[in-house]
Amino acid sequence: MKIKIALLGLGNIGTGVYKVLAHCGQKLEETQGLRIEMARVLVRDTAKARAVDIPAGLLTDRIEDILIDDSIGLVVECMGGIEPARTWLLAALRAGKSVVTANKMVIATCWEELDAAARASGAGLYYEASVAGGIPVIGTFNRSLQANTISEVMGIVNGTTNAILTDMSEVGLSFERALQHAQKKGYAEPDPTLDISGKDAAFKLSILASLAFGQRVRVEDVFVEGIERITQEDVAYGKTFGLTLKLLAIGRVESGRLQVRVHPAFLPSSHPLSSVRGPFNAIYLTGDALGQAMLYGRGAGDLPTASAIVSDIVMAAQHAGRHEHPAFLAGDVSDALPLEQNWQAAYYIHLRASDTPGALSQISGVLGKHGISLATVTQTARGSCTAPIIVITHPARELDIRRARQELACLDVVHDIVNIIRVEGGDGV
Ligand code: NAP
Ligand code: HSE
Repeated sequence: MKIKIALLGLGNIGTGVYKVLAHCGQKLEETQGLRIEMARVLVRDTAKARAVDIPAGLLTDRIEDILIDDSIGLVVECMGGIEPARTWLLAALRAGKSVVTANKMVIATCWEELDAAARASGAGLYYEASVAGGIPVIGTFNRSLQANTISEVMGIVNGTTNAILTDMSEVGLSFERALQHAQKKGYAEPDPTLDISGKDAAFKLSILASLAFGQRVRVEDVFVEGIERITQEDVAYGKTFGLTLKLLAIGRVESGRLQVRVHPAFLPSSHPLSSVRGPFNAIYLTGDALGQAMLYGRGAGDLPTASAIVSDIVMAAQHAGRHEHPAFLAGDVSDALPLEQNWQAAYYIHLRASDTPGALSQISGVLGKHGISLATVTQTARGSCTAPIIVITHPARELDIRRARQELACLDVVHDIVNIIRVEGGDGV
């Protein structure tokens, strides 16, 4: 079997796909009986120097060269962003060309439209690389976990923020230096604010939770907080309590309701996700039949992502004319309870307060008034008029923490509430 494909984008990921196909082409012919021929490569700037040797005539900056070429059966999108990706993928699908994409933003926000175009023309829509890079997580949910009702997915699904937090914790790098490092390695999005704001993880959780819970979870349903406010001190203080800081993507059914959220969280160092370092990702899931399982691997970077993309190309070619499409339960997940009623966690509270007699009792008094019970209280320095205070609570309601925060901010002895971070995966310290 032979398939002619076109690549949209030759940046970090497109270049990885080009390299991996060159490397494994012979093996795919021998083991899968599939010959993949690169017919066109679309870029913005055809004159730009490239990291791979591209035969003359392959590069183009005109999408029409690909869309009107009937011999091209499959389009691989590695450009990113919503437009023009959405328009061009719709055009390709309507022309009967299958689509493989690494673009979580376009899948999470335009899934219905793209899926409808694929169903109408009989083309396939594949997006394994859109969540957790090289880890076969989409395929696992679609083809290996059908027997299970999933009650929880808890994942590290952004390699850039995990690499930043690892570098801050283990090498002592500042946030800015750690971000530069992740960008240099090619993990970050073209616009890295998508990574550090948690939005990239929210796109991925929207896709992952939709497949895990069989119900369409929209990006707007996902509560999102990024790691912008995390300080080197928070990471270090957490460590002294045996806690590791991660940006978590959580989908959880509690009391029959679904909660979907992305935010920084401390995990006990003994939790399996605590050992996920650098650009690695992992998805820890609970199914009623399977129990708990963890999928682990490289979540960002050119070659790991290309591994998932090439696997999708093979799958698309082999399933031509009988593609699978996701089926969701009717209705949206808009009946998720409001945030404040839904959540319980232990909390890490980092304050700067007056180093004066009675300050600690005023702070614990406010927390106690809101029914928040304390596991530990530590004043980490003495000798200046302002001292850092770290409180770790027993499990408390989000609503109570928010109310207590407002009251703490009004105390004269509290100079600054540096951070309040949820503690997941256990009962705190
Ligand atoms: P990138 O390095 O910025 O590359 C983007 C490529 O797309 C460039 O070659 C660019 O052309 C081309 N392009 C962009 N807009 C275009 C347009 N309007 N017309 C023609 N070509 C256009 O981005 P990347 O890091 O490879 O990421 C690509 C996609 O993969 C994104 O959706 C990202 O979320 C996803 N992804 C990335 C990773 C990762 O580890 N980086 C992992 C999984 C998924 P020029 O070269 O001419 O500028
Ligand atoms: N910027 C993304 C990340 C790329 O760091 O996880 C992989 O989707």
